[in-house]
Amino acid sequence: MGELWLAPLRGVTIRAFREAFAVPIREAGFTGAFAPFIPANPGIRVNDRMLADLGDGTDGRLVPQVITKHPDAMRVLLRAFRDRGFVRADLNAGCPFPMIVRHGRGSGLFRNPDLLERLLAAGCEEMGPGSFSLKIRLGLASPDELMALMPVVNRYPLAVLTIHARTAKQMYDGDVDMERFREACAASSNPVLYNGDAGFGEIGGVVPPGNLPNMRGVMVGRAFVRALGTRPDVSALLSGYLERSCAELSGDRPVLGRMKELLAYWSELPAWRRLWPAIKICRTVAELGAVIFPANSCGKA
Ligand SMILES: Cc1cc2nc3c(=O)[nH]c(=O)nc-3n(C[C@H](O)[C@H](O)[C@H](O)COP(=O)(O)O)c2cc1C
Repeated sequence: MGELWLAPLRGVTIRAFREAFAVPIREAGFTGAFAPFIPANPGIRVNDRMLADLGDGTDGRLVPQVITKHPDAMRVLLRAFRDRGFVRADLNAGCPFPMIVRHGRGSGLFRNPDLLERLLAAGCEEMGPGSFSLKIRLGLASPDELMALMPVVNRYPLAVLTIHARTAKQMYDGDVDMERFREACAASSNPVLYNGDAGFGEIGGVVPPGNLPNMRGVMVGRAFVRALGTRPDVSALLSGYLERSCAELSGDRPVLGRMKELLAYWSELPAWRRLWPAIKICRTVAELGAVIFPANSCGKA
């Protein structure tokens, strides 16, 4: 099947999550994980809190990700990654949020192939050949756009090209386009990771093409997160996540926001469906604790 990578999910696959769910992540056999994006903007100091969320790069299995339209600011961030021990970095050219796209970042880079090329050149130079990577979609509005960009991307020796088999216009819903993915994979001179609705464990999904030439493996995000909610040890794992989050964040609101973001992934699962309406309306960590750990009603687990 090739390599299996954990997708970056901003607000979800953060450090506290990666630590609290380290056992299932290890059991799943992930080759490694991509971290949620960190912005790089000129004149703005690298965000220490975001860097701290990466931990250190010493185990070599976490790939930090940058979102930017500024090659020089990106270099500064890549150096900060390297200073922390990271040997790889990824460029986000897939984020579909209109605010990001309008400003020419994420999927907005489809509109500016020259800039994408400068970013790839700077990234490969900073991290070294074969150590920088690109995460992209099939296009911004049409699934043909990546094919048109491929000659630009192919000029750079990437660690990997991750293709989310949708357009940005589709956001995160609607069918993935496996035909266009196959076409792009065949046209890539870099190894490719398939991404988009791949299933995991008990959570069904699309089955990525098996052994296409150039295909290195699969990146999976939401199905893995959903599958965590079906584990018999989920309560203990969740309690570790809550504990880490309470230690890291101050006040109930950010902790609740973080917990609900994860729990929303489980809201359709038989074991959680009944609890979800009560979870949604919790306003304090103690209330949430009483709902999700009823046997241990002191709030914090
Ligand atoms: C809440 C959320 C946050 C995301 N954050 C990022 C991100 O920081 N960087 C990135 O490249 N993709 C991000 N993505 C996209 C995912 O990495 C992935 O491409 C997408 O969810 C499709 O894969 P999946 O169906 O396996 O989840 C995000 C997606 C979601 C739903």
